[in-house]
Amino acid sequence: MFPTKTYVKRRQQLKKKVKSGLILLLGNEESSMNYTDNHYHFRQDSNFLYFLGIDQAGLAAIIDIDNNKTILFGNELTLDDIVWTGPQPSLVDLGAQVGVKEVQPKNAIGKYLKKARRSKQDIHFLPPYRPENKIMLSEWLGIKMNGLCSLVSIPLVRAVVSLASIKSAEEIVEMEKAVNISRAMHVAAMEYAKPGMTEAEVTGKVHGIAVSGGGNLSYPIILTVNGQTLHNHYHGNVLKKGQLILGDFGAETAMHYAGDITRTFPVSKKFTKQQKEIYQIVLNVEETCIKASKAGVLYRDVHLMAARMKVEGLKALGLMKGDTEEAVQAGAHALFFPHGLGHMIGLDVHDMEDLGEDLVGYDDTVKRSSQFGLRSLRLGKALEAGNVITVEPGLYFIPELIDRWQSEKKFTQFINYKKLKGYRDFGGIRIEDNVLITKKKQRILGKPIPKTIKEVEEIRRRVKF
Ligand code: GLY
Repeated sequence: MFPTKTYVKRRQQLKKKVKSGLILLLGNEESSMNYTDNHYHFRQDSNFLYFLGIDQAGLAAIIDIDNNKTILFGNELTLDDIVWTGPQPSLVDLGAQVGVKEVQPKNAIGKYLKKARRSKQDIHFLPPYRPENKIMLSEWLGIKMNGLCSLVSIPLVRAVVSLASIKSAEEIVEMEKAVNISRAMHVAAMEYAKPGMTEAEVTGKVHGIAVSGGGNLSYPIILTVNGQTLHNHYHGNVLKKGQLILGDFGAETAMHYAGDITRTFPVSKKFTKQQKEIYQIVLNVEETCIKASKAGVLYRDVHLMAARMKVEGLKALGLMKGDTEEAVQAGAHALFFPHGLGHMIGLDVHDMEDLGEDLVGYDDTVKRSSQFGLRSLRLGKALEAGNVITVEPGLYFIPELIDRWQSEKKFTQFINYKKLKGYRDFGGIRIEDNVLITKKKQRILGKPIPKTIKEVEEIRRRVKF
């Protein structure tokens, strides 16, 4: 946990922004896997962590602005519980650590909210995403579950987004830790993978490093020879010489700050000429886009710059043709780059995405596009000092998409479908770092992670096979 004053200050700022009413923050419950007592690994809700810091299941909190009090709701362990869990700090002690003096049993919350409803107090709550919390909210507030969404407090969402988007110095320390554990995972993958192994063997190796770092994975591991499938979680393929491994994985620290790193490396000791050509385009885009990411710059413009650079690079290889600007305006580049350049990262790998992507990544001046490719950009608005973002360009050769577009004769003025035949088995390349936007510039978080062709091949050269 951070020092008590961090949580007290965050709640004070939240109250100031929301102004009146009552704020209800729900922690997460244990979630059953295949029978009641066999749980998925517990992950606390990130908003609860941000304002209350307590990493324990079954809690909720009310910040009653009108009556100037904050109450932690939860049940102290009974002796029966302690037999299974061992002694744990009391909720009174945990509350004190985050500056909350009043603790009440969990079942008192319904009564508190009933009273608030009777006195017509505004009840602000965030979009619930876990079924357990949806059920409780529905009971406490007397609203059908499918009606909860329309009653989510937009002022509360906006207040949380404005606070949590700007990372403090102590949060940056945690985020650097997350990136450094993620770095160790990526270097280990490059040092470990050999032809004949399965993707699962390499996946197991890097998963262990995340756990050894004191936290866990920040999202399910993508480690695949089919990098053209953007979120590929299948790990059953055997690695073969000549293939590329795309690894998109990261760790979260014990305090749950996330790292999100992608590297692509050859199963062989060296990239092929064709792989090098595509890799170098992606690397140039990544490095240029990082430098262009500054306070005041629209991230949508950085994304579009990435698109133009990719079109230029693909034109040089004869895979695209025509006017670059027109190709990007039309969305032709999305055949090779169907996702967004990046997103905010913090306590969540896609930070605050539970609050609504558009409320986090867009604003009144920058609206989300509906165009294929650009519509997947999660962050389009102006960057601010204190934001931490991912910069993750990629180039992919997706046979199913190529075939569909070719059969529809789509963008034949921009795409050289004939030449693309030689890339059907290429797969995909993505390179990603986590970047802090500072007042004047930006900084890649963590120690450098091998990225140039020379650095990657140097590691692969040392692997014995
Ligand atoms: N690294 C996974 C994602 O950004 O979706």
